[in-house]
Amino acid sequence: MIKKVDHIAVLVPDLEEARRFWVDALGLELERVESVPEEAVDIAFLPVGDSEIELLQPTDLESGVAKYLAKKGAGMHHLCFEVDDIEATLARLRAANVPLITETAKVGSSGKKYAFVHPKGTGGVLVELYELV
Ligand code: CO
Repeated sequence: MIKKVDHIAVLVPDLEEARRFWVDALGLELERVESVPEEAVDIAFLPVGDSEIELLQPTDLESGVAKYLAKKGAGMHHLCFEVDDIEATLARLRAANVPLITETAKVGSSGKKYAFVHPKGTGGVLVELYELV
């Protein structure tokens, strides 16, 4: 079951620069910034109700996310749903022949399970799934 939109991730070349719109102009609160070395990004978390905007700044020029930024430019990167059972959701997508980037859910530093669905199967949107544990 899909519980909510957990976050919308926006790719930016520079978090300080990005703050000028998201925090200073729009008025969102910057809750915290985290380094996520396994994804080669620094992430700024900006809560909006029960969801968050995540600003992603690549930290390694060779990473997939940095190459994506270089190729496509800044902008929306992915949409993340919180689900109650990530393995069941992946099985459901597999049964529907939706291509997955992450075949088996990964476990993040904070213990959250996550996986990505290929944009080829979603109409062009990179979709992330999260299961909080
Ligand atoms: Co995400």
